[in-house]
Amino acid sequence: MDILDIIDKKEKVEILSKEELNYVVKGYLDGTIKDYQMSALLTEIDLLGLTDEETINLTDIMLHSGEVLDLGFENIADKHSTGGVGDKTTIVLAPLVASLGVKVAKMSGRGLGHTGGTIDKLESIEGFKTSMSLDEFKKQVEDINIALVGQMGNLVPADKKIYALRDVTGTVDSIPLIASSIMSKKLASGAQNIVIDLKVGSGALVDNLEEARKLADLMVKIGKKYNRKVACVLTNMDEPLGLSIGNSLEVLEAIDTLNGKGPKDLEKLVIKLGALMVSMTLNIDEKEAENKVIENLYNHKGYEKMLNWVKAQGGDIKNIKIAKNTKVIKSKEEGYIKSINALEIGKLSRKLGAGRLTKDDEIDLTVGIVLNHKVGDYVSKDEPLAAIIYNEKEITEEEFLSCYSFSKEKIEKPKLIIDIIR
Ligand code: URA
Repeated sequence: MDILDIIDKKEKVEILSKEELNYVVKGYLDGTIKDYQMSALLTEIDLLGLTDEETINLTDIMLHSGEVLDLGFENIADKHSTGGVGDKTTIVLAPLVASLGVKVAKMSGRGLGHTGGTIDKLESIEGFKTSMSLDEFKKQVEDINIALVGQMGNLVPADKKIYALRDVTGTVDSIPLIASSIMSKKLASGAQNIVIDLKVGSGALVDNLEEARKLADLMVKIGKKYNRKVACVLTNMDEPLGLSIGNSLEVLEAIDTLNGKGPKDLEKLVIKLGALMVSMTLNIDEKEAENKVIENLYNHKGYEKMLNWVKAQGGDIKNIKIAKNTKVIKSKEEGYIKSINALEIGKLSRKLGAGRLTKDDEIDLTVGIVLNHKVGDYVSKDEPLAAIIYNEKEITEEEFLSCYSFSKEKIEKPKLIIDIIR
């Protein structure tokens, strides 16, 4: 077998066997296949696609490229987001479902590009530890139903190496490559009931609904092969989620949401994802699960679980810092907000220092943007649109206002939850 023959075969849109895919993944991991050869193959896959069977085989090979965890818990669920702007959902959802008896043993990532990462956000809580040993991790889940850390152990090393190459070769948006990347990691971390928040829109990896449906179908199909329950919730990411963008600001919004005082779109998403996680894991009807989620959101049991969880990981919830400088941006127009470009807002937040361009960049956890309004709201001239919370790095009023468009006609609020595929 030889990599040039495999690249040739894919170029002719022929199907690669599991042996050939295995040869590629192993060879790339051990260095016998070079970056430029792998990038040629990834580019062909990006352009020509893979069959479902090839994708399932690739997932299996990636999954077994490193350690596979079996935490040994029943009633365990996981949630994954394909990444968005202002997406602090996990920080609300994880303690909320844990307060209902669902075990959440979650590994999360750091932010890259215009989207943030849960691990960075949690580190804005003074003292919060995002790494621990596997034994400590298991014990914490056993004791309080929830632990959340960065990547642990040697899970799916193939994805780590291939994803880094995809990131710099414009092949991140390939549907079969996304499906095998996400599902190999979820399966390797021992997730049994998996809810995926698949973001669709300008601020998301997938901006096209048809492609998002294909990706969701594929991930559900992969899950079934491994006897896992998978539900993909397609959600709108044309505008940021909630009102706060930036690490510590998002944690503060998550806390407000667990106290029943969060933005309505975030609350709605948390209730839907929570109902799915609880019903799939505890085998109860979805409506009953939804009622339980709402109950624990409003009786503060979810918040109490968050306090418990933050304390268990060494954090001080009273100590979340935000930058000292605030610049209020006022609207220059009067009318209904027609759009707030999530991608551009994400980039501006990164420009303030809240995000990274490359994975080694230092970030400022205290800065970000707090919006006052969402799409569909009416604003008057000179009404404050947002506050920019900053340190040394600034953005201009023009840059911020260029993310908005307005209409004199009434604008309907966009539908947040587009579909659920399972
Ligand atoms: N998230 C992942 O983990 N992998 C991808 O390929 C895309 C998003």
